[in-house]
Amino acid sequence: MSLVNAKELLFKATKEKYAVGAFNITSLVQMEAVIEAHVECKAPVIIQTSVAPTKLLGVNVLVAVYRTLAESAPIPICLHLDHCTDVAYCKKCADAGYTNIMIDASKQPFEANIQQTKEVAEYCHKIGNISVEGELGTVSGVEDQVRVVESESELCNPNQVLEFVERTGVDLLAPAIGTAHGIYKTKNPKIDFERFEKIFDLVNGQSLRVPLVVHGGTGLPRETVERLISLGGSKVNVSTELKHSMIDATYQYITDHRDEYDPGKIDSAVKDAVRKTVMNWIGWFGCTGKA
Ligand code: 13P
Repeated sequence: MSLVNAKELLFKATKEKYAVGAFNITSLVQMEAVIEAHVECKAPVIIQTSVAPTKLLGVNVLVAVYRTLAESAPIPICLHLDHCTDVAYCKKCADAGYTNIMIDASKQPFEANIQQTKEVAEYCHKIGNISVEGELGTVSGVEDQVRVVESESELCNPNQVLEFVERTGVDLLAPAIGTAHGIYKTKNPKIDFERFEKIFDLVNGQSLRVPLVVHGGTGLPRETVERLISLGGSKVNVSTELKHSMIDATYQYITDHRDEYDPGKIDSAVKDAVRKTVMNWIGWFGCTGKA
């Protein structure tokens, strides 16, 4: 039905207090699985790729497949570039047809983060209806191949939030609040809900301006996800769990069918597994029927 940017989807989600899932895919089979699950649930969705898959599969191939699938799907779908630290590469993906771009300059000093985020936001707004996500504070864990060591991680400083939003013109904000990429070392990770609430009020208290993004979805307990949505989070990123679903399903299929040489059957097993994983998240996000 529609190729949309993330801002449109997230304004509606924030107002109605549900989240749109933002799923990192690394293959075309995963992309199909994520879209099929959302079509089945009549839910909007954000397909994400980090930089590595764009280099492996090609930016234009990913955009072409996204367009083909999204144009014939009866739900709104956004294609988002995740955690790109390179301004020129952000522009390249925007030119190619990504509808949402994340410039992640969060490991830079505050002023450089502002300048780089502003440059990408201005470019994307000028060339089309492309929204831009920025990050403030550093979400720890593994992003693409970049390992962020725990000691480097710092939470988003609420005192910097308004200045960041106003000077960059960014459309979505990912504040670091204690969530992390990859597998959590504890069952109940310590999340700074108060900080998240404060940031939401600072930015969106008067009127909704910049929807908030929750990174590090994999491994968060359901109550945590639901609480963050109730406090204003409207985009929740999930990556690692999809990778596990894909690899575990592949391993299981090959183990059970060691004498078979039919790659399509492995793809089908992967698709089923990824679809199942995504359906579970859709239930948590409360986005069923929101397309
Ligand atoms: P996980 O890999 O922990 O699900 O995090 C995903 C993410 O935040 C991508 O930006």
